[in-house]
Amino acid sequence: MRISIKKSSKIKTRIVFTFNNNKIKDHKGEYGDLDIRYEGNETLIYCGLGKESDLTSKALRNCAADGIRKISELKRKDCAVSLPEDREDYAEALIEGIVLGSYTFSKYKSEKQKQPESAEILSSSITASRANGIRKLSESVCYARDLVNENAGDMTPQDLASEARKLGKSSALSCKIMDMNEIKRNGMGLLEAVGKGSEIPPKLIILEYTTSKTTKPHLLVGKGITFDSGGINLKPSGHIETMRADMAGGAAVLGTMRALSQLKPRGINVVGVVPAAWNAIGSHAFIPGDIYKSFSGKSVEIKNTDAEGRLVLADALSYCIKKYKPKHTVDLATLTGAILYALGSFKAGVFSNNDELSRSLIDAGEKTGELLWKMPLEKEHSEAMKGELADLRNTSKLPRGHASSSTAAAFIKEFVSDAPWAHIDIAGTAFNEQEQSGITPKSGTGFGVRLLYRYLTEKR
Ligand code: BES
Ligand code: ZN
Ligand code: ZN
Repeated sequence: MRISIKKSSKIKTRIVFTFNNNKIKDHKGEYGDLDIRYEGNETLIYCGLGKESDLTSKALRNCAADGIRKISELKRKDCAVSLPEDREDYAEALIEGIVLGSYTFSKYKSEKQKQPESAEILSSSITASRANGIRKLSESVCYARDLVNENAGDMTPQDLASEARKLGKSSALSCKIMDMNEIKRNGMGLLEAVGKGSEIPPKLIILEYTTSKTTKPHLLVGKGITFDSGGINLKPSGHIETMRADMAGGAAVLGTMRALSQLKPRGINVVGVVPAAWNAIGSHAFIPGDIYKSFSGKSVEIKNTDAEGRLVLADALSYCIKKYKPKHTVDLATLTGAILYALGSFKAGVFSNNDELSRSLIDAGEKTGELLWKMPLEKEHSEAMKGELADLRNTSKLPRGHASSSTAAAFIKEFVSDAPWAHIDIAGTAFNEQEQSGITPKSGTGFGVRLLYRYLTEKR
């Protein structure tokens, strides 16, 4: 999608935002109202925003997405869009809405829906280069969505590694992929265990973005389970069908690294890591009841092979914290079904050993519309993860389902020592099984890319 910033436009198809105090006939302007008017040779798409004093960037972003989908339904190639108020933050929200709203995953459809090719934004409060940056960031969200939506059989740990290698070709990034031999040699027994049931072996993917010789890096780690069958504790029907999305945390990290490589913000260093594995079932798969040794030296008794995300994160986190000595560490993971029961698809849960870090993530999310909710992480949760024959167990000894998002986070906490760290459970927000609405498409949402980018570039 081409985005240009204009003072005026000759394009005859226009998106016009309205409020509920407008005087337009048969268009109330309530939030979400969409009405088309043909006036002379112009097509006007009125998008209602509701009460003027309640306007937020989030509302504008979502309404712009609904508006651009109307343009594609009408099969128009270009459109012009005016802002409800000419402000830079609104112009940014509008561009995000347009790029994210026009996303479709049509690779497997025989009839592809044509998307609009260009949008002219009528504004004098945003520069062309800023607008370009917002467009590229939004395209990185779409990139993350594509990775999630692809067939699990075509987005294996091997394929994720090739994606990272492609990103690593950019001059701003360097890429290192650890294969099964190195994973074993380094003693990452948990990543090895989770990945060994599959014919396609696990990888530890590391991308580095460096612009400063003196500052410590931010470490981002994304769960990269390319298919979560549950392993020998096989998932039942109804729960297994969406498990190609279990690498959405990894996709968000790759999307963020892509955005960094294109927008090149100065003064920060970022290490993006994806422990990638296919949690398969078979005679080579890791075994319930067996004990495996982690990179950190702690041993883990496997109570359930479906609690695999925390295992791959544990090895990736302890290895990278030791190696890179990051100033902050953030992991993103589709970790627990329980977070969906707690927060629905409205918010992701954040767990942290550092209030300042979780606060800045929550603040960044409020700006991008990717909302986070601080969840408890207490010593009782850690207590419940202590092992009998091993140091730790991978599921808690609390009654089934009790605080299981918190006990999962407490397990990961065992592997970050004193490093300031936050874990974001995106199991409820990364994949949309409902109808599309606003900027949220069906399937992969790309949750986390704009959030992480904002967090990284605001915290300097
Ligand atoms: N990948 C799942 C979590 C998940 C569930 C993601 C639903 C997206 C939607 C994770 O590996 C898992 O299976 N977690 C188990 C943990 C349990 C065995 C302690 C869960 O949440 O049920
Ligand atoms: Zn699982
Ligand atoms: Zn999983």
